[in-house]
Amino acid sequence: MKIAIYPGSFDPITNGHLDIIERAMTIFDKVFVAIAQNIAKDPLFTVEERLHHIKESTNNNKNVEAEYFSGLLVEYAASKKAQAIIRGLRAVSDFENEFQMALMNRSLREDVETVFLMPNEKYTYLNSSIVKEIARYGGDVSNFVPAVVNKHLRQKFEKLQ
Ligand code: PNS
Repeated sequence: MKIAIYPGSFDPITNGHLDIIERAMTIFDKVFVAIAQNIAKDPLFTVEERLHHIKESTNNNKNVEAEYFSGLLVEYAASKKAQAIIRGLRAVSDFENEFQMALMNRSLREDVETVFLMPNEKYTYLNSSIVKEIARYGGDVSNFVPAVVNKHLRQKFEKLQ
């Protein structure tokens, strides 16, 4: 059984993330989409809200499981008996940080490989922060996020309009 962890903040999940999940599912039997605590970020959505978004937008696919973890990613990956960590690479600008994380994770546990997947090029410029900024000012993000997230963003920001 080939198992992968796709970790991230997913605040919120975007169509770019979903593209990576679909690609990962063609290679792995099981993909854990793992929401991590990122101490450098102040999330808009709670962990429960983010888990709900992921479950809804992956159509409750039994080969995809959404979870929250705290602590080190490599320890979580080992606890799931995962062979790989999946990360999306959109552009060269992602590379330096991802390279550093991959090598650091490998030095912590060399039995977990990082696998980089490139999303469809139409998602090259897409990230969760830009989606939140557009939604905050009333812009239309329906092409960039799943329906459940679009609805929730509108609810969160409607008081500001
Ligand atoms: O979506 P993000 O914010 O780019 O994801 C970053 C994330 C969550 C993958 C990274 O911060 C992480 O792995 N956090 C868990 C703690 C950990 O293991 N840190 C060491 C990474 S080298």
